[in-house]
Amino acid sequence: MIQIDVKAGNADKQREDAVVLPLLDGRKLTESGKELQEATGETVADFLRKFDLLGDFGVSRTLYDVAGMHGHRAIFIGAGSEKSLSLHKLRVLAAKLAAKLEKSGARGAAVYLTELEVKGASLADKVQAVAEGLWLGLYKFDKYQSKTKENKRALRSVNIMVTSRRDLDDAEVALANAKAVASGTIFARDLSNEPGNVCTPEWLGDQAAGLSHKNLKVTVMDKAAIEKAGFTALLAVNQGSAKEPRFIVLEYNGGKKGDAPVALVGKGLTFDAGGISIKPAGAMDEMKFDMCGSAAVLGIFKSITEMDLPMNVLGVIPSTENLLGSAAYKPGDIVTSYKGITIEVLNTDAEGRIILCDALAYAVEQKPSEIIDFATLTGACVIALGGQATGLLGTGEKVKKGLKESGMHSHDRVWELPLFEEYQKQIDSKIADIKNTGGREAGTITAACFLSRFVENVPWAHLDIAGTAWNMNGTDISPVGGATGAGVRLVVDYLSRK
Ligand code: BES
Ligand code: MN
Ligand code: ZN
Repeated sequence: MIQIDVKAGNADKQREDAVVLPLLDGRKLTESGKELQEATGETVADFLRKFDLLGDFGVSRTLYDVAGMHGHRAIFIGAGSEKSLSLHKLRVLAAKLAAKLEKSGARGAAVYLTELEVKGASLADKVQAVAEGLWLGLYKFDKYQSKTKENKRALRSVNIMVTSRRDLDDAEVALANAKAVASGTIFARDLSNEPGNVCTPEWLGDQAAGLSHKNLKVTVMDKAAIEKAGFTALLAVNQGSAKEPRFIVLEYNGGKKGDAPVALVGKGLTFDAGGISIKPAGAMDEMKFDMCGSAAVLGIFKSITEMDLPMNVLGVIPSTENLLGSAAYKPGDIVTSYKGITIEVLNTDAEGRIILCDALAYAVEQKPSEIIDFATLTGACVIALGGQATGLLGTGEKVKKGLKESGMHSHDRVWELPLFEEYQKQIDSKIADIKNTGGREAGTITAACFLSRFVENVPWAHLDIAGTAWNMNGTDISPVGGATGAGVRLVVDYLSRK
């Protein structure tokens, strides 16, 4: 991650390679832009008049070596109409700017984006959005490209400029938050983007164990420990894989001793071929992302340890591959879970709920105040909500409400689907307690019904991130095709407000 600082000062005085000014619809400059225009005589005014730069969102033009300004170049970047700006648009604009700066050859930049007026947003909100956009927009995953040309003039540092010195304290706090959120998101993306031959359950356990903080304890159970503990549903899914499963427990004690923790549970399927109910070959490679739920949990732990959040948080990650070895579990098998509930396996590709049920039952035993789980659980959720919202279901009205608000604020959005009792009968089994599929109808809901059997009375929210966790074409703030880090901004925002 590049160095980002906050600073106050005039645009003409900044001795940076690049000074970045927003330009609103109709070639309107903000305060610092106007000051620069004055300090440079007619140069900036002329430039804006002559060129076809109107302020269109994300479109930029560069002016070099202007007399009257200390910086090397002035970059004017279109911000669209001020009325339509939002915090997320600011984040997206910063991400676009990051890509532009990276290619420009500038080593350092002074960026005046927080002068844009955003309805209802404080300066701190704006600093956080710009910093997140810059860091997330610069994200790359190119470690396996041996021929990647090293960028000899890569961007090294950015100063986010604020209008008044008095704002610097608030801005510093916002910047530190952004840094923790970005580093958690980047950690989640990095873990998720690793291929399945590298990111195995054992490797995932090592990555969890690599997180270190004075208030964090990480326990990684190997197969023998999992057998001893009795996580039999996880073991059933693991039968088809030559690789050992792992059961990862993270305990962050930043709060008072004895305070009930918030439990975060994440699906850690490092590759999902579907098992004996094998998936079609097309895009099966994308099933390396079936551990994005666990990556979100680990990303959140990275963020909250960096923020030293004053609360207790428990993390639980069941991890295995879902493959087709000769010992693989089969359609028709009846599996007894850790909790004792028996499961008739009708489709071995509905494996996520099977490994999660043991993790949820274990989490319940730890007496958490609430449980939030993250899982790339159903293709049906991709069809229902696409990539713009994570599916939200559950029994905890307060936690669901908080997640909806944090979703809107962080723009890591959720949308609720109902968990009406009538759906429960779709997973009734004639020969076991429940079956692992509920038919074609309401697939996201019946998957959540399955999970609900294991959470008892603990307030619970389930996040189906199947549609949001990755995008092979990239997104506005995740320019590289691949993992987005969905769930990290959402839940770090949620936990910070508690
Ligand atoms: N990991 C998949 C869900 C998935 C599919 C996520 C595509 C993202 C994109 C999950 O394990 C799965 O295979 N679910 C099945 C359940 C079905 C067999 C009841 C599904 O959604 O098809
Ligand atoms: Mn599956
Ligand atoms: Zn899966």
